[in-house]
Amino acid sequence: YMGGLAGVMPRWPVDFANLKARAEEAMSPSVLSYVQGGCGDEWTQDVNASAFRNWGMIPRMMVDCSVRDLSIDLFGLKLPTPVFMAPIGVNGICTEDGHGDLAAAQASARTGVPFCASTLSNDPIEEVAAAQGDTPGFFQLYTPNDEALAASLVGRAERAGYKALVVTLDTWVTGWRPRDLNTANFPQLRGAVLQNYFSDPVFRARLAVPPEENPQAAILEWVGVFGKVLSWDDLPWLRSLTAMPLVLKGICHPDDARRAVDLGVDAIYCSNHGGRQANGGIAAIDLLAEVVAAAGSTPVLFDSGVRSGSDVIKALALGAAAVGIGRPYAYGLALGGADGAEHVLRSILAEADLLMAVNGYPSVSTVREAGALRQSL
Ligand code: FNR
Repeated sequence: YMGGLAGVMPRWPVDFANLKARAEEAMSPSVLSYVQGGCGDEWTQDVNASAFRNWGMIPRMMVDCSVRDLSIDLFGLKLPTPVFMAPIGVNGICTEDGHGDLAAAQASARTGVPFCASTLSNDPIEEVAAAQGDTPGFFQLYTPNDEALAASLVGRAERAGYKALVVTLDTWVTGWRPRDLNTANFPQLRGAVLQNYFSDPVFRARLAVPPEENPQAAILEWVGVFGKVLSWDDLPWLRSLTAMPLVLKGICHPDDARRAVDLGVDAIYCSNHGGRQANGGIAAIDLLAEVVAAAGSTPVLFDSGVRSGSDVIKALALGAAAVGIGRPYAYGLALGGADGAEHVLRSILAEADLLMAVNGYPSVSTVREAGALRQSL
């Protein structure tokens, strides 16, 4: 506000609705349909965000909040804020130079917000890790149906210094996404270079000619190897791939959370993939408290529908250990690369910080204390 009085205005909107509107002007129709699109009529995607409105915070008075502590402990790491950047595949199509993953990593380096690099990164994960500087990164695995390839991808991530392995469970096949199908989106995605896959030695060994010579053949090979059908019996094998903390993404049912905890995972990641995999599902935020209760002392990460600082605070109050930002940073990338993604993260964090100040919650642990939130419907 003080900056505004002095004539210094932010370069992009600080709220999600206006940010999205600006990004819609900047993005090509096919990129927009890929980023925005969800499954079916996108009901689940919509309620993911709108269900946050069913929860309300209760302010506390006479608490000294002149200094706020937004830091959290996760995987033995001290993180300066309770948010992270959720994995987004093919980030490169959001930026003009095709290096959206490096841009996201730079935003991560500048803010201290961890970036979870996707298997489908357009830049090799080693380069992404280097661009993250001192900020810890996570690696998200879409488990290929070639076990040696899975081991290679995970081994590379561990050697590159990633601090957690996030295995996405809900996407061994892509969901029914009419926007992509109707807009013939696939040429756009075909043009994107999946450099992380293409640089993998085990993947390259599967090809008759290198991807540089025949990218189309490499893409088809990738389509064939993309998704292993996982069951609980595969968990020991996944565990054996790495010493990194193991996180299971896509857990929404408390029984699944209990089972994962019994089998020794290091964290649960409650998410419905932003409504991109299955339509008709309950808003992820409405399932979070049950998953947290089932997980006991095991941390629960959360994403799906987080659009603002107040959404972050609500997810923390419902027990999330850390909160993932998804589509908003993709819009930031489209508007201004690393600067745009950084702007989005800083806007969300600034709102969260101010909310803690005015609501009387000086730290993340005080937000989590009983009584910070009520269902308002
Ligand atoms: C995703 N998401 C995702 N998840 C994952 O595990 N690996 C991936 O490669 C991707 N790719 C991806 C692409 C795009 C364009 C989007 C929008 C999302 C899901 C992502 O991690 C997260 O769960 C959702 O983005 C959360 O929903 P909202 O908050 O973005 O609506």
